Order: sequence, then structure tokens, then C-alpha cells
Amino acid sequence: MQAQFDPDTERYTVVVSKTFYIETFGCQMNAHDSEKVIGTLEHEGYIQVPDEAEAGLILYNTCSIRDKAEQKVFHRLNEYKRMQGEGKKFAVIGCVAQQEGERIFERAPYVSIVAGSASYRNLPSMLARLEAGENRITGLDDRQTDQTFDTEFTVRSNPHRGYITIIEGCDKFCAYCVVPYTRGKERSRTSASVLVEARRMADQGFTDIQLLGQNVNSWRDPSGRLSFAELLSAVGNIPGIRRVRFTTSHPRDFTRDIVEAIDATPALCDHVHLPVQSGSSSVLHAMSREYTREWYLERMSWIHAAKRDISITSDMIVGFPGETDADFEETITLLGAVRYDAVFAFKFSPRPNTPAVHMADSISDEVKSERLRILNDRQREIQREHYARHLGQTIEVMVESFNPARGQVVGRSTQNKTVNFTQAEGLSQPPIGSYLPVQITRTMPNCLIGEAAPGSVPLQATRTPQPFVVLN
Ligand code: SAH
Ligand code: SF4
Ligand code: F3S
Repeated sequence: MQAQFDPDTERYTVVVSKTFYIETFGCQMNAHDSEKVIGTLEHEGYIQVPDEAEAGLILYNTCSIRDKAEQKVFHRLNEYKRMQGEGKKFAVIGCVAQQEGERIFERAPYVSIVAGSASYRNLPSMLARLEAGENRITGLDDRQTDQTFDTEFTVRSNPHRGYITIIEGCDKFCAYCVVPYTRGKERSRTSASVLVEARRMADQGFTDIQLLGQNVNSWRDPSGRLSFAELLSAVGNIPGIRRVRFTTSHPRDFTRDIVEAIDATPALCDHVHLPVQSGSSSVLHAMSREYTREWYLERMSWIHAAKRDISITSDMIVGFPGETDADFEETITLLGAVRYDAVFAFKFSPRPNTPAVHMADSISDEVKSERLRILNDRQREIQREHYARHLGQTIEVMVESFNPARGQVVGRSTQNKTVNFTQAEGLSQPPIGSYLPVQITRTMPNCLIGEAAPGSVPLQATRTPQPFVVLN
């Protein structure tokens, strides 16, 4: 609330600020969309508040990748119901909004805005309609738009590490997946607009940039200037940028020059997230992934042959309709063949609108759970052995937080591994966002433990772009 003085009447009037609260679920794309939505709302005069009780407008940025995620939305919508009558407005945005569309108004008539991600660039006009008293405002897109949501108002939650969306939507239509229906058709930003944003971030003191897309390596420069690998190198060569990641890559579009770019460009991180989904070619075929086990393993061999130790991570689905014991066994043997640094495994969840909903030979939940357990156990064993290669190494770590209970600094390596470390006695804690060499003294299946290398001084980002200098 603020008081506004009117010089004509010489009176103060109390103005109720336009306040909003936003809650976000889902992937990094959703997290970053929320950062852009926050920026857009603030530009429209709204103020973000940390508590929904204080907010005039509550936004819920939703995910529908698996049934559990979607159920959360409807659970929250029921909670909204209790808050009705307090003069609050509600907006459901994101993937469930696009998937369910106007049905959300039927289920929750107190919701005023339903908008999918492909319509966020129209948020200012949707907000104006809301302020004018309209109650059923939709921003939906049925794979029509070829525009991207670029805004200079993005409010990034972390001052050191930030996302840039380079490609939106998905044209792959994997048989199990809602994304092509919830995020619209694939559309790329120009290299020039990506590089302008990356340079601006470097000027603001960001040192770590993550390029985002559902299939980030399917990015095609609409201006025809750069390949994806060249874009990676160009972002990595911006002065001040020390780390560049990209997620998520699709095996179908994964080219060898990406590995060559990592080998040649120091700022490109030693990490590729390349989801395989299954180790069985027949399941991959049923999933419409458009590659075979052999095709995937060939890409793995490029990464294994790189000069740098590039960590490889993956997503996997167990219990896809028709997955036999033999198919599942192929997924398990793939774990051993690739030796992943991390695997995110999920039980297949039938999703609305997707072809897999109608596939026969569904697998019982017990079998899915058992396969998930076997997969996670095997992967844990592999990680236990595989992480041991870091023992005794000195690894550069970006400082992220402190764990006072353990007296440890928590950071992240270029391979995206969590590193917990201590410092020599008497040294002050290194600043969040600084980089420090850490000697690894112990390895765990999920993280590394170490000590700050003796005599090292944390490297800190500066507000003006400057090359980093190693201080000893
Ligand atoms: N675009 C990326 C990631 C998509 S969503 C890709 O193609 O790899 C993130 C992960 O969720 C997927 O990799 C997949 O493993 C999982 N996923 C997607 N749909 C799913 C479903 N219906 N059931 C279970 N897991 C699913
Ligand atoms: Fe979903 Fe497949 Fe597109 Fe990934 S590539 S977002 S899994 S449809
Ligand atoms: Fe979820 Fe949509 Fe991301 S379904 S995983 S928020 S693309």
C-alpha cells in the first residue's frame, strides 16, 4: 500500500499496490518462464510478495509431465477455493493450463486467467483485461504460434548463474510425452538475440549461463548464421562468462561438433545431459524416439573419446507399455556400457492426448516400482565406482551455499557434481558465486568431499566484464 498526493485537491489517497505471488513447478524451462513472467508483471507495476496471503494476484505455474505433477495442481486449486472472498485473483499458467484450457474454469470458477507458455508475450494485455474486471481470460495456443517470448525484463533469482531460453516448444512427439501439446511447436531465437542477452548478463556479473530448450540442440539459427555448436562457443567466449551449460539435448540431433566445441572452448562445461529413455531399440521405436541403442552408443563413444572428462547424465523411463524383462535388461546393461554420472529415472505415467495412453500391454505398478528400484540400485553402484576417479583431483568449484551444521561450503563442479568442502582454519568463507580450486579427499555415490586447495584465493565476478586472473 502507498499514499499518493493529488496537488489539485491537496489530498492523499491510499493506493492498494498490485501485488502478486507466484509458485512454480516443473522443469528449468518453467522456472525460467517464471523469471520472465515476474519481470513482465513488475514492468506492469505489480510488486512480488513472498506470501500468498499478502497477494492480490496468485499465479500458479504448472507442470503436467507425469500424473503426480498434474494432481498437485488440482490439489492447490482446491486450496485456492478457501481463499476466495478475500478479493484475490487467480491465474493458472504453464503446461496444465495449456493442456486443460477452459476446463480449468469449470473445475475452479474462481480462476480468472488460464494461459500456456506460448501466450506469455500477451501477458500485459491479459493483465489489463483482468484489471478491467474480466473474469475468464485465456491465453492458449494450439501449436500455431511461431513467436518466442523474449523480454528484457527477466528477473533472475540467482545473481551469478542464469538461464537463457534459446528454443521453445517441441516437434518430436515422443509417444509418452505431453510437451509438444503443452509448449507448442518448435521455434528458435536468432543467434544475435541470444548473444545480446548473454553479453548483457556478463555485464551484470553473471559468470554461469545455462542455455535452455526442451531439445536445446535442435536449435536452428533463424538467421542462418551459427550452428548450435558455434553458438555454444560464441557464448563461451564472452569475456566474464566462465561456465556454459545446455539442457536438454536430444540424441537424434546430437552432432559430433558439440563434443569438439567442448574440447576447444574452456568455458563450456564438462557435462552433457543426453536422455536415452530406454536401452532397448524396440522400446525406443515404440516410444517414437527415432534412434536405436546403437545410434545412442555411437554418440556416447564420441563423448568418451573427448580430450576432456565430460560427465554424462540421462533420463530413463521404466515400464513403458510392452517393455519386457529382456527390454528392461537392455536398459540395465546400457547403464554399465555408458557409466553415467547421474540418471533420473521415472515410472511411465500415461498422459492425456499422447499415443502411449492407448497402447496395449500396460505394465503393473508393482513391476514398474521393482524395475525402478533395480535401475536406481545399479546406477548407485556405478556412481560409487565412477566418482572414485575424482579422488585426489583438484577441481574448480563454484560456491553456492554454506552448510553451517557441517561447517562445509557447498559448491558445484563443471561436471555438475555437488562438492562439499572445508577450508583451512582461520580463512573466511568464500563469497557465494566465487570459484575456488578444491582438492577431493573423499567420494560418495552422489557427491564429492574435499578441502579448499591451500593458498588459493576465490575468484569473484566483477560488474564490468574482465577476463579472470588466477591469483596465487
Ligand atoms: N525434452 C527432454 C525432456 C522432456 S521431460 C527430452 O526429450 O529428453 C523430462 C523427462 O521426463 C523425460 O526425459 C522423460 O524421461 C520423463 N517423462 C516424460 N514424459 C513422461 C511420462 N509420460 N512418464 C514418465 N516419465 C516421463
Ligand atoms: Fe517430450 Fe520427446 Fe519432446 Fe522431449 S523430445 S519434450 S520427451 S516429446
Ligand atoms: Fe513439466 Fe511442462 Fe516442463 S510438463 S517438465 S513444466 S515442459
